[in-house]
Amino acid sequence: MTTVLITGANRGLGLALARQYAANGAEVIACCRDPERAEELKNLVVSAANQVRTVQLEVSDEGSIASLKRALGDQPIDIVINNAGINGTPQDQTPERIDPESWLTTLRVNALAPMLIAQALRGNLLRGREKKLVAITSDFGSVSIDWPITTNARERYAYRASKAALNSGMRALSRDWAEDGILVGLLNPGFVRTDMTGPRGAASAASISAEDSARGLISRIGDLTPATSGSFQDYQGKTIPW
Ligand SMILES: NC(=O)c1ccc[n+]([C@@H]2O[C@H](COP(=O)([O-])OP(=O)(O)OC[C@H]3O[C@@H](n4cnc5c(N)ncnc54)[C@H](OP(=O)(O)O)[C@@H]3O)[C@@H](O)[C@H]2O)c1
Repeated sequence: MTTVLITGANRGLGLALARQYAANGAEVIACCRDPERAEELKNLVVSAANQVRTVQLEVSDEGSIASLKRALGDQPIDIVINNAGINGTPQDQTPERIDPESWLTTLRVNALAPMLIAQALRGNLLRGREKKLVAITSDFGSVSIDWPITTNARERYAYRASKAALNSGMRALSRDWAEDGILVGLLNPGFVRTDMTGPRGAASAASISAEDSARGLISRIGDLTPATSGSFQDYQGKTIPW
């Protein structure tokens, strides 16, 4: 049985990934900040009998990452998915105004935490069969795409920097951990209808459902090979320029 650990598994893409991996027969370690209040995840734990367990994880807290590692011990994990992420506050990250604290918080959650989690769980991945480390990144992390004025890229300077830093770290791990057999996926989920792109139930410009995106992401993770490890792709397998 494949064992998958997912951060930010209580809503949005993380929840869709947890549901689909469970439906596919995987054992899911679903990490979230507040398992007691994660109602949809609790329902999944009940419906996917014995396949899904929740673990508390605040990714910006090193102590919480250490607790996660203690809870897992030496358990083999096949796939670690760093999915948890934040947009940051739009008015704090414009070309005209950067708020330092807000910038650092966004970098901490989106870029630093996945690196610390990767390092904490490296031994678990090495004991797993698939040895796949995945980051849910964004095409906003591309430094070569000139975003049109019609997008909200002007209000995403910290978010864009955070995903570029995430890409840099994960790409480096794909090279430095290759000899250990660890494969690294950097995957852009597309423009997906979640809380990040608009309140739930509200009309959103995002065209892709979390379920469709998760299905594509799971296929891409399944397709990862040493030849594709470290490449920057979207959920449909299209290569994204760095
Ligand atoms: N939606 C899109 O169009 C889109 C596009 C490109 C990339 N992405 C990326 O996809 C990933 C998932 O996004 P989403 O659209 O599913 O967003 P979402 O619906 O806003 O969900 C974000 C998830 O991250 C968790 N999270 C945030 N900060 C955390 C922290 N400090 N510690 C632990 N968990 C934390 C949230 O938990 P709480 O409920 O506790 O806040 C939630 O589970 C993110 O990395 C995002 O950057 C999304």
